[in-house]
Amino acid sequence: ADIRPMVAGNWKMNGTRSELDQIRAIAHGVSGPLSKKIDALICPPSTLLYVATTLTVDTKLLVGAQDCHQKARTGAHTGDISAEMIRDCFATHVIVGHSERRKEHGEDNYTVSMKARAAYDQGLTAIVCIGETRAQHKAGRTMDVIHRQLNESMPADATAENTIVAYEPVWAIGTGQTPGADDVARVHARMRADLVERFGARGEAIRLLYGGSVKPQNAPELLSVPHVNGALIGGASLKAADFLAIYHAY
Ligand code: G3H
Repeated sequence: ADIRPMVAGNWKMNGTRSELDQIRAIAHGVSGPLSKKIDALICPPSTLLYVATTLTVDTKLLVGAQDCHQKARTGAHTGDISAEMIRDCFATHVIVGHSERRKEHGEDNYTVSMKARAAYDQGLTAIVCIGETRAQHKAGRTMDVIHRQLNESMPADATAENTIVAYEPVWAIGTGQTPGADDVARVHARMRADLVERFGARGEAIRLLYGGSVKPQNAPELLSVPHVNGALIGGASLKAADFLAIYHAY
């Protein structure tokens, strides 16, 4: 299938108003004459979500949130934000099931699938994150863990329009360590096979992003791995120059 790649940035718990100029610079960089036939997305903290979409209106930069509650609309859930609120801010995407949410907030695969459903309910695209821990990696359990997380975290009505999958080995996040290209290729081929087995032709078109210490230096190699349809970038997405260098690795 001919899949349009995506370069996505997850700002995590980083970014105050003074960093908005980075969003402006990224939007400028992906919109002008150097614009490529790929999608670019930034997921700022929810405090900056509305101002980010306002700043980037009429640019090619997409804006997303980092999490949503599993209940799509309003309710008594202190500290949470709903998919409806995210849509109301004009954002189009939401990350669900990031390993930091799974670890720090006890989110399991079922919760993640409910969050993806909440995103669909509001017309958002869910970026469903999966990935093995270092211990699971060392124990040779990567493929089993991926298979199970993917199966249990993705709702039955997932399509290429409403869902993107991000493979993020937990041990590669923020560590500067990445799996070798061969290992990434094996995992992504397995995810593709799993998706096709479950969803048929729909599964061919679902984007598969790699995440975990993607930098301008390693982006050309990682992004050329078969079945890697883009990147989910943490640290290197905070600086416009780094994000744009990865964008231009395509
Ligand atoms: O969502 C992004 C990932 O967790 C990757 O973070 O690029 O800082 O390793 P990182």
